[in-house]
Amino acid sequence: MSTRTEAYREMLRNGEYDLSWMEVESEWGVRAQPSKRGLTLNDINVGSYGVIPEDASDSLSYAPRGADFNPAELPDIGYSLNTRAEAWAQNMGKLYEEAVARQWSSTRDIPWNTLAPLPKDIEHAMCQLATFFTEVEFIAGDVPGAWLGQVNNTYHETKLFMATQVMDEARHLEVFRKRALANGGGLGKCSREVEEGLKYIFDIGSFPQMLARLHLFGEGRVLTLFRMGEMMAQNEAEKAIFRLCAQDESRHVAFGCLQLRQLIAEDPDRIDEIHDALDSAEERTIELGATPEQLEPFLILLGGGEKHMDIGMEKFGILRRKIVQEYLQRCHSIGIDRQERCKLKEAADINII
Ligand SMILES: [Fe+2]
Ligand SMILES: [Fe+2]
Repeated sequence: MSTRTEAYREMLRNGEYDLSWMEVESEWGVRAQPSKRGLTLNDINVGSYGVIPEDASDSLSYAPRGADFNPAELPDIGYSLNTRAEAWAQNMGKLYEEAVARQWSSTRDIPWNTLAPLPKDIEHAMCQLATFFTEVEFIAGDVPGAWLGQVNNTYHETKLFMATQVMDEARHLEVFRKRALANGGGLGKCSREVEEGLKYIFDIGSFPQMLARLHLFGEGRVLTLFRMGEMMAQNEAEKAIFRLCAQDESRHVAFGCLQLRQLIAEDPDRIDEIHDALDSAEERTIELGATPEQLEPFLILLGGGEKHMDIGMEKFGILRRKIVQEYLQRCHSIGIDRQERCKLKEAADINII
């Protein structure tokens, strides 16, 4: 037992109390004011509580930003993301509030009763697509979940946002699994290529590289697909699934972009690290190529049936170019120019992604 504990026990035995915890050195006496929407995370960033330190190495424990503590006395939790450049961005709190406000339920908010029997080829295609998205949504939740514990709690806004992403992705895989099982079809096939393409995201060793690969590249691509979901949906239930998932994905992409922009602005030397991650993301996409399980459901849904897959191919070509174009715009928006470097521009025309 520590001397402090022993001394305190003695005090209690004598009917005395300590109360020294009332003499806090932090900013006592502030009163955060609710704004129009209620009491937001930004509203409580008042005075020194709102000062985001460049370097959080003072606080390696669970002691929250602004509390009164002696860092030397507290344990090191082992966070690896301890700088503002890597683990925080302006507007992170706002993005978290938006995520909380826009939660939905796949049980309650999808008009499942609008599902009706579909031609066999269309049902097969939608179920195969739902299977593919279920695979994708697993990794989209697992990876931020694995990194969440590395973010120093000084940057709690980032941690909180990542927790909402894990919940969002849980709901996405839930809704696509439900769609596969809700209209007389079922889960489809999972290919080695898709699984290999997803697995390596898990093994990426740096947080910015993970954000570049998963959020900017991968979720950006999924976002474009979901936004075009209207072209593939056969009923109101499927329209709602794509619309609500797109709404969540746009926040995830925004998160990755905000974070990477902050890093580049504070530490421009790390641009190469991000370029490298995007180089390998593009190379892998080309290497793994198109698979029938991934491509053909799109062609059937976009074309309107197995007999019109050529029409589907034309529409998919537009979609592929849009994916690349939006990806390059996102890179530009965070301060990275990949116009010349991007390997996907030609690939988009030769039916690879
Ligand atoms: Fe998702
Ligand atoms: Fe996502």
